[in-house]
Amino acid sequence: MSKVKEADPVMSKKQISKDELLKLESQYCSWGDTVHYVEKPNIFTRCKGSYLYDDSGTEYLDLQMIYSAVNFGYGNERLNNALKKQIDKLPQLACQYVHEEKILLASRLAQRMETTFEEKGRVHFNVGGAQALEDSLKLVRNNTGRSLVFAFMGGYHGRTLAASAITSSFRYRERYGHFGDRALFVPFPYCFRCFYGKKRDSCNLFCLKQFEKLFETEYYGVVDKKTNLCEFSAFYIEPLQGTGGYVVPPMEYFIELKKVLDQYKILLVDDEIQMGFFRTGKFWSIEHFGVTPDILVFAKALTNGLNPLSGVWAKEYLISPKVFPPGSTHSTFSSNPLGTAVGLETMKLIEESDLARELPKKGKYFVSRLKSLQKKYPEIGHVDGLGLALRIEMCQKDGYTPNKKLTDAIVDIGLSGKLSAGGKTRGLILDVGGYYKNVFTLAPSFYITEKEIDLGVDLFEEAVAKALKKV
Ligand SMILES: Cc1ncc(COP(=O)(O)O)c(C=O)c1O
Repeated sequence: MSKVKEADPVMSKKQISKDELLKLESQYCSWGDTVHYVEKPNIFTRCKGSYLYDDSGTEYLDLQMIYSAVNFGYGNERLNNALKKQIDKLPQLACQYVHEEKILLASRLAQRMETTFEEKGRVHFNVGGAQALEDSLKLVRNNTGRSLVFAFMGGYHGRTLAASAITSSFRYRERYGHFGDRALFVPFPYCFRCFYGKKRDSCNLFCLKQFEKLFETEYYGVVDKKTNLCEFSAFYIEPLQGTGGYVVPPMEYFIELKKVLDQYKILLVDDEIQMGFFRTGKFWSIEHFGVTPDILVFAKALTNGLNPLSGVWAKEYLISPKVFPPGSTHSTFSSNPLGTAVGLETMKLIEESDLARELPKKGKYFVSRLKSLQKKYPEIGHVDGLGLALRIEMCQKDGYTPNKKLTDAIVDIGLSGKLSAGGKTRGLILDVGGYYKNVFTLAPSFYITEKEIDLGVDLFEEAVAKALKKV
């Protein structure tokens, strides 16, 4: 390389300013991810506990923790140390060989399924959530020979092609041609905005009855009434919808759904990628709902946002080596030693903690504080939560009509880092989900303190009050 131009911040050694970085980002980074959902991306330089810090040292309280991937707080010392230890021991290994941490992690997860659901099964690891989801689709197809599945309206299962096919938003598919294996999307029991306009206290699970109705005659296009064979091989669920807006369904819904699925040998695939690992106060969110999945997919919080690791657990008859032999699926970095070492430590950490008791307590306190705020601001239409998966639905003054503009303004104010609640200049990290992009989906660190919850509510109120003056 010849002379390095002084003016070129990439090639020269001088400190790059934030503006220069943002200029380079806008020129050389793909805009295909979600970075440019906001006008000016934030650049963060540090993180600890429940906080992110930017280059000027401004502290941002994070109430979303990477879509529930960092459940155990940023810079968790115990989990970070597990990673560091593994770096010095066995940092790399091709996944055609095995290592202790992989075997122990798979065993712990599978044994947990045995005690929780009394089901024997196996675990197959991968790297990202959507990749594990794809592996689950292979297991389904391998068992049933069929590729069509049911999934929920408002469901989100990732952005690879196959995951996009079973994710309800057409927006994620519209640029990529025809999706022959697109799921049949069924209304989720989102009672605050019932698809059928019913009220929960009198609906008698009308939405479920409508699903059941599909099986009445072959002319509804789902089942061969002569053989009882359903064209749809599986139903993909998130027990609580994540991107869909942390919607908590009626407790009896999945028991009733499973009865229908069992009649037609439709597999239940439980996507726990966002809600797994105690986000809802139980290890798997499906444990609240009294049914056993045939296949369960997990990712995110298993490694607390460190070296990514995902996986799929399936009942033995779906994944035994006889039916899913060597080479059935593969990825270079699946079961990577850094990920499995952290995952194993996460499992130990969970087993040694009392999350089932602590998290619902924190969640209840958080919800009660938000409900008090709701009394003051009619624009806060709905507040709900399970464990530490909490939702705030922003509306017009009527408390019902979705208010995306207000939601976006609150996000921007939080990200501007200019709030003052708690006596110092701070920012607030919020994530937006929901069918109308008007829901704050809160997934705070499991170690958030009552004082930090109070701070979060105060910062949120300040942002709401400022946003209401703007929109
Ligand atoms: C429920 C659910 N499924 C699947 C995915 C996709 O996971 P990944 O982004 O790791 O591919 C996500 C990610 O947000 C998710 O929340």
